[in-house]
Amino acid sequence: MSGLARFSVSVEEELLKALDTFVAAKGYPTRSEAVKHLVRNALVETMWKAKGTVAGVIVMAYDHHKRDVVRKLLEVQHDHSDVIISTQHVHLDHDNCMETITVRGRAGRIKKLESAIRSLKGLKHSDLMVTAGGRAVP
Ligand code: NI
Repeated sequence: MSGLARFSVSVEEELLKALDTFVAAKGYPTRSEAVKHLVRNALVETMWKAKGTVAGVIVMAYDHHKRDVVRKLLEVQHDHSDVIISTQHVHLDHDNCMETITVRGRAGRIKKLESAIRSLKGLKHSDLMVTAGGRAVP
């Protein structure tokens, strides 16, 4: 871990008040931690938009009795095996399943996988969370 550097930032009083409210609401221990988190989020967002390498998790829920959802979901995953690291399946109750797919690769390829999953009929919900991939954020 590199050493800490300090810098000062001038902001309008109202913005500082809003920051402090945000820090308290989100439970950050200090303003510095909140600002670091926000900067890193922005860096990951930039990597995502620039189609850089990212890592992430796709989470989804479905009723395994519905249509061909299980077979189609497997087909989609086999078609994107180059960016899939692992898959975890949890049987939530008699009907419902939750599946998480851990991914790593080019943002464009992961967007295609996300889109292919989202377009599956019978899926109840899906979402994607990404973080830095090949090159970690500082
Ligand atoms: Ni299941």
